[in-house]
Amino acid sequence: MNCSNNVGILLSSQLLHRIRAGFATREQAKLYFQFGKRLGLQPVLFDLRGLDLTNRRIRGYVWHPTSRSYIPVHRPLPPVVHSRVLGYSPKLTRLSQIMGKRLFNPPIRREKVFIHRLLSRNPTVRTHLPAMIPLTETTKAVAWIDKYPVVFIKPVIGSLGQNIIRIENMGKGSFLVHPYIGKRTRMSTSGLARYLGTLKQRRYYLVQQGIPLARFNGAPFDFRVSVQKGRFGRWEISGIAAKVARKQSHMTNIAQNGKAMRAWTVLNRCFPKQRIQAILHRISHLSIATCQELEKTWPAFADAGLDVGVDQKGRPWLIEVNFRDLRIIFPLAGDKKMFQRTYLNPLLYAAFLRH
Ligand SMILES: Nc1ncnc2c1ncn2[C@@H]1O[C@H](COP(=O)(O)OP(=O)(O)O)[C@@H](O)[C@H]1O
Ligand SMILES: [Mg+2]
Repeated sequence: MNCSNNVGILLSSQLLHRIRAGFATREQAKLYFQFGKRLGLQPVLFDLRGLDLTNRRIRGYVWHPTSRSYIPVHRPLPPVVHSRVLGYSPKLTRLSQIMGKRLFNPPIRREKVFIHRLLSRNPTVRTHLPAMIPLTETTKAVAWIDKYPVVFIKPVIGSLGQNIIRIENMGKGSFLVHPYIGKRTRMSTSGLARYLGTLKQRRYYLVQQGIPLARFNGAPFDFRVSVQKGRFGRWEISGIAAKVARKQSHMTNIAQNGKAMRAWTVLNRCFPKQRIQAILHRISHLSIATCQELEKTWPAFADAGLDVGVDQKGRPWLIEVNFRDLRIIFPLAGDKKMFQRTYLNPLLYAAFLRH
């Protein structure tokens, strides 16, 4: 059998199990097979358990249209692997060492403070990064917080909007603290230092300058920007959709009941029509520059979902880089084309890497 057209799709064991069992999952695995067929590629779903590193073989699954089911296959390690696994494991690290760029994305150290430091090296990106410090020493942190009208305190590893605290500086040593759960509380400088001191696992938090995000019907919004390498191995914007926070919330995450909408619809409500194209262009430019910078550290990096906000003046700000974009925002925003492109582009990139 000719296996040179195989493209491995590496999934977590749990996700692979759910897909095989026919459960609804966020990963629309069938799209890989649909587009693979069009491009002359044979996707093979597998997990790290099905990887035999010694013999460079995999046990995986392919979609069988006639029986409408996934059937098990044994194959040599495919020449290219699109990894949808987040986090580290020795086996994944080894695979990444063996495959180099042909395993995308590689394992990435994704603590937000570290990523911020890497991106600060880039003059284009730097001016669009909200200031950030790790939350280590509380009195130092309070002095830093006092410089900004609003700050966000967040876990250093992405959390679907969980455990995010927002602090408003009311001036004259008074702060309004919105904890993740519970009532807003007014605190003095020393009260705030005490409160921060009670945060469990403080070293896993950071403090970030708050951006006065543009608003839609009174609620802040930002964008999810899918940036991927595609045909010719160049970075492209596969999709942009808006996330609008629910009433009274400051987090736009879909997991926090944020609402997905088309980018144009939302921008059209708060900026003059003739500015929208330019704003979208600036968002795209920043997003691509961000990925190009990260690629210098991880050459196999090829696929990300960025959270980019715009302030009330229309200036873009990079809030977060997600290293395994779930892509679900696009169908939720009603954009099937963008959604499909987020599956097609990695396969086009895989085809490019084979040559
Ligand atoms: N510095 C900030 N300024 C304004 N809004 C923010 C800021 N940080 C976070 N947010 C809001 O909270 C949401 C979640 O923050 P984010 O850093 O993306 O964490 P997570 O990894 O949990 O998604 C953002 O999408 C945004 O709506
Ligand atoms: Mg986020």
